[in-house]
Parts: sequence; structure tokens; C-alpha cells
Amino acid sequence: MGEIDQLKQQLQRQEKLASLGLLSAGIAHEIQNPLNFVINFSKMSNKLLDDLTDVVEDNAEKLPEADRDDLSDIVADLRENMKQIMENGERAVSIIQGILLVSRGKENEFVPSDVCHIVKEYVRLSYHAMRANHQGFNVTIREQYQEGVPHIMVIPQDLSRAVLNVMNNACYAVWIKSEAKRIKEEDYSPEISINVSASSDELTIAIADNGEGMTDEVKKRLYENFFTTKPVGLGTGLGMSITRDIIENKHGGKISFTSTEGQGTTFTFAIPIRKF
Ligand SMILES: Nc1ncnc2c1ncn2[C@@H]1O[C@H](COP(=O)(O)OP(=O)(O)OP(=O)(O)O)[C@@H](O)[C@H]1O
Ligand SMILES: [Mg+2]
Repeated sequence: MGEIDQLKQQLQRQEKLASLGLLSAGIAHEIQNPLNFVINFSKMSNKLLDDLTDVVEDNAEKLPEADRDDLSDIVADLRENMKQIMENGERAVSIIQGILLVSRGKENEFVPSDVCHIVKEYVRLSYHAMRANHQGFNVTIREQYQEGVPHIMVIPQDLSRAVLNVMNNACYAVWIKSEAKRIKEEDYSPEISINVSASSDELTIAIADNGEGMTDEVKKRLYENFFTTKPVGLGTGLGMSITRDIIENKHGGKISFTSTEGQGTTFTFAIPIRKF
């Protein structure tokens, strides 16, 4: 294929992606509303079930025992159904929010920022979110912030999103490995190391995990939109493509990684220091 044809094809792909982005942002907004109804009405129905249970209990003596048992079985089933509706509704909301995050085209502002502070905050956020969502999850986090790292010009919301994406992946990688090790009854202590340092012209953020690592296939496809190895509901496969866009296109920096299957992964952001 000639160079021009290749360029044409690339252009077509990008146009498709751009319209896909707009389309999905529109759809995401449209879906968010009815989804809120689903979640709120199922919460209300749960409360109604409590009321129903109270009424039945108050009138227990008027009902034959068999009917009472039937009623409590039905109520228990209904409760379980409501729980499924709520959980899956909330899962859908989080997928949609992921889509909205990529598609929002808002131009963000560069402001002088304390990058160490941003990293600390989002490392913590990721850790606590992971603990809330995965029972039994734990990890030792080692943090090293070089003294005197200057405040630099960044887009804080975007940089924090990038740190969060990489941290979430690191947490997941050590969690998957620790589950596998637990089943095999092998020793393993999950660890994530954070390092922030600066030279005269560049600030470096490194996030290293001793998790499951990546196969060659995953290494190749890591930055593809919607590429994920996670089960449905746990990954949309957008995290790393968003992160690369934030570091390289928005901040003019460089993202790199090293990974060994079964051993772990290190991601490094190098961000040029812009004077202000
Ligand atoms: N630290 C890591 N260790 C091992 N595999 C990783 C790591 N980071 C990323 N990956 C692999 O790269 C894939 C793509 O990552 P990416 O963050 O783009 O999507 P995701 O985490 O699957 O979904 P989400 O959109 O929710 O972030 C992951 O599914 C995983 O297979
Ligand atoms: Mg991710």
C-alpha cells in the first residue's frame, strides 16, 4: 500500500473514532438518566419491602403458618432481586462515567501544581477504592518523594486521572496475583512503590508493582482503546489510552513501561517542567 493510501486509511480511522467518541458521549448522557431512575426506584422498593415485612409481622397471628413461610420466602427473593438490580445499575453507571470521561472535549487549564501532593492523594484514593471493592485486598505501599520537587505547570484533573489509572491497574495486578498465590498456598507480599523526582527540566513519576506482569500480547495492545483483560464490569480498556493521551499529548511528556510476566510492572511518566 502506498504512503498516501496508508495516510488516507489512518485519517478515516481517526474520523471514525472521533465520531464514535461524540456518539458515545451523547448516548452515555441519555442512558445516565433512566439508569438513575432504575437505581432510585429499586432503593425505594427496598424500603417498601421493609414496610411490607413490618405489616406481615404485625399481623402474623392472622395468617396460617404455611402462608407466613411462603411470604417470607417471597420477600427474601424480592430482596435478592432488588440487590441485583441495584448492583448492576451501579456497575452500568460506572461504565458510562468512564465513557464520559474520555469523550468530554473540555480544554483544561495548566496551573502551577504540587505534583507530589497530587500523587499522594490519588495513590490513597486508589488504595481505598480497591479495599472497598475487593474483599481481602491489601498491599504495602512505599512512597518516595524527592525533597524540593518544584511546583510545575500541569492540568491537575488530568494528571490525577493518569495517576489513578496506573495505580488502579497496579492494585489490580497485585490483587489478581495474590488471589492466585492464595489458592496455591504460596507466599506473596503485594507491594507498590511510588517514586517522584525532578531534574532541572523534567519531573518523573514512577509507579512499580510486583503483580502479575504482562504477556507480550498485552504489552503490544496495552494502549488500544477498549483493550482489556479484565472481566466485564471491572475494566473498560480505556485507562491506558487516556493516560497516554494525558501525559504525551496534553503535557508533552513521555510514558514508558517495563513489565515481566509473573514479576511485575513499572510505569514511568516523564513530564517536561514548564516555567511559569
Ligand atoms: N500494572 C499492570 N500489570 C499488569 N497488567 C496491566 C497493568 N496495567 C495495565 N495492564 C494490562 O493492560 C490492560 C489495559 O489497561 P487499561 O488500564 O487501559 O484498561 P483496564 O484496566 O482493563 O480497564 P479500565 O478502562 O477500567 O482502566 C489491562 O486490562 C491489563 O491487562
Ligand atoms: Mg485500567
